[in-house]
Amino acid sequence: VTDRGRLLGARDPVAVLSALQQRTSEKWRRHGHHVLPSYIAEMDLPVAQELLTAIGDRLVVTGGDLGYAYSFTADSPAQRALAGWLRDRFDWSAPTDRILYYADVMRVVEAGIDAFSKPGDAILVDLPGYPGFFEALRERDREVVGNPMVQRNGRWQIDIAGVERACRDGVSAYLLCSPHNPTGALHTRAELAMIAEITSAYRVPVVCDEVHSPLVYPGRRHYPFAPIAHRTKTLTAVSASKAWNIAGLKCAFGIPGDAEVLEALLAQPTRQRDGVGILGVAATEAAYTKGGRWLDDTLRYLGDNRRLLSRLIATELPEIGFTPPAATYLAWLDCRRVADRFGGDLAGQVLRDGDLAATDGIEFGREGFLRLNFATMRPLIGEMIRRLADGLGTTVSDRVSAAA
Ligand SMILES: Cc1ncc(COP(=O)(O)O)c(C=O)c1O
Repeated sequence: VTDRGRLLGARDPVAVLSALQQRTSEKWRRHGHHVLPSYIAEMDLPVAQELLTAIGDRLVVTGGDLGYAYSFTADSPAQRALAGWLRDRFDWSAPTDRILYYADVMRVVEAGIDAFSKPGDAILVDLPGYPGFFEALRERDREVVGNPMVQRNGRWQIDIAGVERACRDGVSAYLLCSPHNPTGALHTRAELAMIAEITSAYRVPVVCDEVHSPLVYPGRRHYPFAPIAHRTKTLTAVSASKAWNIAGLKCAFGIPGDAEVLEALLAQPTRQRDGVGILGVAATEAAYTKGGRWLDDTLRYLGDNRRLLSRLIATELPEIGFTPPAATYLAWLDCRRVADRFGGDLAGQVLRDGDLAATDGIEFGREGFLRLNFATMRPLIGEMIRRLADGLGTTVSDRVSAAA
């Protein structure tokens, strides 16, 4: 509790950094202490007390309730908790006997690729796309059909005409990321309805990765694809791992849209659904039943980070384009106006000269972009900008230190 309070109240970037450098996750261990990590999508914010209590109960109160997770059963408390969350937040009544446990979201996506296509098939992915999608498709010998997103009316949007073209040309499935990593785009209900009409007409099944769906900023709304999918076959992937910052606990869910997709998943090797962590199940149940208030507070904090980041980029790095995300804590930076100076290796450049670890756009299929993660303590936002400027060979004004 002391550490939580100290972290959130701290104003000095050096103190915050030295506290965070005690962490043992990949994000904090891959590089030396001189590097500010802003790449892997996990938050630096402390985990909600409600989740820590649920985990602590498993560890302490019961004397160590650490066996295999209760995960091959329908209608367990965490499945009911997720169903309640989906109903309350998104008005989606997903039957609990159709909610399957998986160890993580990518296993659900992989199960969807396996269920909806075969080696050699073409799969539609919006660009930029989450690197894990490309990896899963490569491993399964699927061809990627990339559909570049477009910037219209100050938002990143799916190119719906491109979706139609790809469906007409015979893709076997569509990996839809909603809300979208890395742009933070929140697809509107109208856009999703148009996509559903197209995928229904061409009978293209959709894997809907909705892992970022709880991370939507106030005033906007996430619409799950499955309830508006018409006749489209769907498999939706969700978990509490991003929004409540428990990715290391290994608990996610796959929600097949109908009995046929459910049957296809149940026919896959059981090991594909193995590896769920019992502490993850406990924390996930707590997240969906008791974690709403913490999430709303966290979204306010992240929203302020987003505003600060946006202001600092506009004033200090005007050559960089940034459309603030409507969801997620990810910043997709258009660095194309400066990228030429660095021979394309943008992330390598800011790591070398700025001691900032960011993710290169190339990993998402778009050159000239960088992705930053702003789910960190407020004093580190200015630090991030200072290091980004160093990396790109410019300097910042005193406003950056004042912003902390
Ligand atoms: C869109 C998307 N899908 C999947 C994942 C990976 O989730 P998991 O670790 O549960 O496989 C991420 C992680 O950043 C993500 O952004």
